Amino acid sequence: MSDGKRAETAGNGADGSFSGKLAVVTGGGSGMGRELVRQLAAQGCSVAACDWHAGTVAQTAAMALADAPPGVRVTGHACDVSDEAQVLRFRDELLQAHGSDHVDLVFSNAGIGGAASFVTDSRAEWERTFAVDWWGVYYCARVFLPLLIASGNGVLVNTSSVNGLWASLGPGVPNTAYSTAKFAVRGFSEALIEDLRVNAPQVRVAVVMPGHVGTDILVNTRRAHGHPGPQDLSDTQLADARARLTGLGLLGAGVADDEVRQRLARLENGFRDNAPVSAAQAAAVILDGVRSGAWRILVGEDAKVIDEAVRAKPDATYDYAELFSDMPQPQPQERRSSSEP
Ligand SMILES: NC(=O)c1ccc[n+]([C@@H]2O[C@H](COP(=O)([O-])OP(=O)(O)OC[C@H]3O[C@@H](n4cnc5c(N)ncnc54)[C@H](O)[C@@H]3O)[C@@H](O)[C@H]2O)c1
Repeated sequence: MSDGKRAETAGNGADGSFSGKLAVVTGGGSGMGRELVRQLAAQGCSVAACDWHAGTVAQTAAMALADAPPGVRVTGHACDVSDEAQVLRFRDELLQAHGSDHVDLVFSNAGIGGAASFVTDSRAEWERTFAVDWWGVYYCARVFLPLLIASGNGVLVNTSSVNGLWASLGPGVPNTAYSTAKFAVRGFSEALIEDLRVNAPQVRVAVVMPGHVGTDILVNTRRAHGHPGPQDLSDTQLADARARLTGLGLLGAGVADDEVRQRLARLENGFRDNAPVSAAQAAAVILDGVRSGAWRILVGEDAKVIDEAVRAKPDATYDYAELFSDMPQPQPQERRSSSEP
């Protein structure tokens, strides 16, 4: 199939739309996943969404149904994508709920941050982050590929990150577990392009690489790893947080404990509220990309800047001053104060 033909059917209704199709969205309880569910349903696409928080994905399903045209079905399912048995159960549930023997679109969107340092963070947290961000995508591909093939015109959409291009968040901010998983997601998706062309031409794959998108991923990540919120930190945890913020140049000397707690809360909320791209805007970019037949979907100007920079100066990828020397943004300090987990 030529690229032009792929683009025509990419949506993947006969007219390139999502109408009348069935989509799977993982991590549908918040952020970009929630907005994907809402926008797909509003465009006439039935959706089976999952999240490991049954309550939030049920809310998403209700919101999406409220704006959906008649005939659209939206279901919410509890599923931890890092557990293959749960993904299999999710598949069985959704096929029954939607009375279908195939799915047309799969958005492998669920993800968390955490375990920034391989050196100092716990092994358990590192492996938990990697399991959600890599094995979650892998299990969904394993479980849903046969159903995408059965669709006759399927699209697998895997969410990576700019950290699938650039394994850092700038000076002083390692991001090892997340970057390792997101590079794996990008590599897997790119490797599937040729495999699908040869062995399953009725399916195509797209990889999504967002920059900073305004969501609750920092709060959700903290909760996923069982870390207390700013108000519930122990004295030791508060001292650690103080040292981290000071090391990053975000906190002066002699700041009161309460102010440290407030600063931490502002960082989490600021990540959501001061982002250059909202979750709804990001979902629209992702759906436009899928509709256009793109295989790589960059979300946000910061993602485009980083993509261009690492391609233009591969040897300077981790020499930040040199990497961004002739580009206005993103400045490392901005990434530092509002970066991904
Ligand atoms: N927000 C950003 O700046 C940004 C940037 C680049 C990439 N991403 C990626 O985009 C995707 C969506 O992130 P978001 O920012 O919308 O975050 P979010 O926290 O708002 O939403 C993610 C959802 O996934 C769910 N989830 C997490 N682990 C799960 C699991 N094991 N099983 C099922 N559900 C699970 C969470 O409960 C949450 O509802 C993630 O893969 C993230 O890594 C986000």
